[in-house]
Amino acid sequence: QCHAVILAGGSGTRLWPLSRNMLPKQLLALDGEDTLLQQTVKRVLGAFDPECVWVVTNEEHVFEVRNQVQSVDKRLLDQVISEPLARNTLPATLLAVEQISKRLPEGGLTAVFPSDHLIRDEVTLRRNLQKAGETAAKGYFVTMGVEASQPETGYGYVSLGRELDVGVYECAGFIEKPDYSMAKRYHRDGGHLWNSGIFVFGCKDFLKAVAVHQPELWAWWLAREDAPMIDNYGRIADISIDYGIAERIDNIAVVRAEFDWEDLGSWEAMYRLGKRDKDGNVIQGDVMAVDCRNSLLISRGGRLAAVGLQNMIMVQTRDATLACPMPHVQRVREIVDMLRAEG
Ligand code: GDD
Ligand code: MG
Repeated sequence: QCHAVILAGGSGTRLWPLSRNMLPKQLLALDGEDTLLQQTVKRVLGAFDPECVWVVTNEEHVFEVRNQVQSVDKRLLDQVISEPLARNTLPATLLAVEQISKRLPEGGLTAVFPSDHLIRDEVTLRRNLQKAGETAAKGYFVTMGVEASQPETGYGYVSLGRELDVGVYECAGFIEKPDYSMAKRYHRDGGHLWNSGIFVFGCKDFLKAVAVHQPELWAWWLAREDAPMIDNYGRIADISIDYGIAERIDNIAVVRAEFDWEDLGSWEAMYRLGKRDKDGNVIQGDVMAVDCRNSLLISRGGRLAAVGLQNMIMVQTRDATLACPMPHVQRVREIVDMLRAEG
């Protein structure tokens, strides 16, 4: 049997000023009526029974997450797990695997889904998940690998090893967020796929990997019944599944994803995926544009007026405005760092 975990506690810094501490990108409707989280919940419910679907987020976001989740399916309300703080994806997954292991004491599988992706072809996703489940049942820690379309320093890469089955490979190495020159090399050699962030594994195999590779986290987990989790959670290290486990274990396999996959990670992606008008602009909200070309112009508060812009991003909210040339989109993160430093 397989349960599903949706991770919904990230901060999405590169989509500032729409994505904020209190309303990170997975909780926003960026490309339609449903938020990215709601789209993910619907997609996952297409493949799993509601009682087998868990959503993990941090306390700060739990109110909004419960609201959004219940508008899709009320039965998920009891399945929202709240972490006292954001400590990244490994501790969040551990909390969910704990609940799942209670339901499946004999052992079972868990599939992990990030909540910041766009996937349209759900039929193919389900077929690929089936394959991932079969591979995980053999003791592999499985990731879904996506064909890379450009060198990308924001993703993990899996290096393809021996073919186990059609479209299923042993992974000869997992490299999380390489630098640009390595990403370029992986892109050229054709032997690497992007890690989609969708993982499937046996609960017992996952717990074993945490015990072996993250002894501090494991010790915290074993001691959790003696100390209230809320006091203790801040002491554990911030660590992702990718750095904490995937880079360290040697029984990873990758299933080649045959479905479409997009990470709505930056304004450039919003522009690329948006509906362009005849001048190549993607416009949302109360915007007046004169003589603008190939720009993303969004207002979620007040009127935004632009004249003569080319390859620009302008995003206006009630209390903040971003202006940024398209090639600099990744650097929006630096603004958020400055804001955090301000406190
Ligand atoms: N509950 C919870 N708690 N969820 C979290 C936390 C946390 O502390 N931190 C992040 N998440 C959620 C995010 O909301 C997102 O849905 C998912 O976990 C992945 O986190 P990101 O922060 O978006 O990771 P990333 O995009 O930098 O990298 C991951 O995804 C890439 C593909 O999009 C990695 O798995 C990469 O290897 C991968 O290529
Ligand atoms: Mg992400």
